[in-house]
Amino acid sequence: MRPKRALITGITGQDGSFLTELLLSKGYEVYGVIRRASTFNTDRIDHLYADPHEEGARLRLIYGDLADGSSLNKMIRTIEPDEIYNLGAQSHVRVSFDIPEYTAEVTGLGTIRLLEGIRETGLTPRFYQASSSELFGNTTEAPQNERTKFYPRSPYAAAKAYAYYMTVNYREAYGLYACNGILFNHESPRRGETFVTRKITRALANIKHGRQRELFLGNLEARRDWGYAGDYVEAMWLMMQQPEPDDYVIATGETHTVREFLDEAFGYAGLDWHEFVKKDPHYLRPAEVDRLQGDASKARERLGWKPRVGFKQLVKMMVDADMARVKQEIEGTGK
Ligand code: NAP
Ligand code: GDD
Repeated sequence: MRPKRALITGITGQDGSFLTELLLSKGYEVYGVIRRASTFNTDRIDHLYADPHEEGARLRLIYGDLADGSSLNKMIRTIEPDEIYNLGAQSHVRVSFDIPEYTAEVTGLGTIRLLEGIRETGLTPRFYQASSSELFGNTTEAPQNERTKFYPRSPYAAAKAYAYYMTVNYREAYGLYACNGILFNHESPRRGETFVTRKITRALANIKHGRQRELFLGNLEARRDWGYAGDYVEAMWLMMQQPEPDDYVIATGETHTVREFLDEAFGYAGLDWHEFVKKDPHYLRPAEVDRLQGDASKARERLGWKPRVGFKQLVKMMVDADMARVKQEIEGTGK
């Protein structure tokens, strides 16, 4: 019997790298979609990548794009994956206000291109859609669960809402095993550097090492339910192993302001953030999501999933990693 095959879009991103590690550890063959870029963009998965010509290589990277349906169709037909994880997206909420059309193209329509690719080939891979707590947006209900009404507040969230409903629709209309993981914010030392947690821990490490004096941020009062990415990719896999497909909220249940993240991170490093943080309206959003807090009871009961890493541990892990990285950079360059 051949090993299970997974096709992952967004493999070069934070979640793609953790999910690849998990699937390889479970004996999967992993096929990852990468975009052509003028500089290397595989840093997060380089440690997992074997020479594709090497016998037994279990991670293969293929050029493709969520905006290019024919490349996706060809991949599905030739790879014949058992599971498809659609993690690829223009994933930055603030940036989606600057490039709304592109965000809809990739984050919204990219999903339908994959779903149609599956339907057209007549194959029956299981399908995971990276849905988001941003769907809840301006909700007044707290905490949010699978039954909470959506109120998207950005082009990103609106594109994710389209992708969410198309995933449900293909499940109901064509009997596809398709699920939505409605994941609340999850972070790690591999988090993109323009998301607020990583922006803070990276700046903190630079400040501590005398390489930066100021940190410019937007809204410090926003509340997020921040978990650890390594825990959250386990939930993705669990959703794909159930007898029936379904949608699940994945969250810690705790909510903290950006200000509290600053307190925790700078406090841990023995610094007072008030001395370094400056407000910059550039980082405010035309419409903000003020408060997210998830209720993952369904995932806990049906998937047996629960987060292992708490808020303080997450902050510490990210600060430690950025401190070590900056130290290494300084030792490497002498600056
Ligand atoms: P990320 O680090 O920003 O990674 C996004 C990935 O999508 C990257 O691999 C990127 O490739 C790829 N991508 C972007 N445009 C693409 C295109 N046109 N075609 C193919 N691939 C494209 O995001 P993440 O934090 O890992 O999140 C993974 C997914 O979960 C995303 O869909 C995100 O919206 C969603 N989500 C994330 C969170 C969270 O808190 N992290 C919560 C809920 C949902 P490049 O490396 O080439 O840019
Ligand atoms: N990025 C950023 N940069 N955010 C800032 C800043 C700043 O300088 N200053 C304050 N914030 C606030 C934002 O206004 C927002 O309220 C909060 O910090 C979190 O912002 P991000 O870290 O950019 O994440 P996000 O919540 O908008 O979106 C992330 O989580 C979603 C799940 O809820 C992304 O990963 C999305 O892809 C994901 O769907």
